[in-house]
Amino acid sequence: MPKPSYHILVCTNKRPPGHPRGSCGENGSEALLEKFSMGIEEKMLFGKAIISSSSCIGPCSIGPVVVIYPDGVWYNKVKPEDVDEILDKHIGQGQKVERLEVPDELWG
Ligand code: FES
Repeated sequence: MPKPSYHILVCTNKRPPGHPRGSCGENGSEALLEKFSMGIEEKMLFGKAIISSSSCIGPCSIGPVVVIYPDGVWYNKVKPEDVDEILDKHIGQGQKVERLEVPDELWG
């Protein structure tokens, strides 16, 4: 197995409905994870990217949150329909999908 160039993390942490912090799981991250897994398979990206689910990684209220390493690019409010663009543009061409990036102001 070749060493993957990219690691895609999808937060799938789930809190109960109505929890004040919200959660990526409550906003559909399980379907997102499935779509990424299928996309990697369909686009034959094995060896180029791997995907993992994660517990909470911080900005819960703007989830689902996806982080791509080694670039350290954080995406927010990612929907299954955004996955093809992320795989084609970011993983395929090494270019960020700027419209989905977590805004700089979030980091204080
Ligand atoms: S629940 Fe996903 S970042 Fe906190």
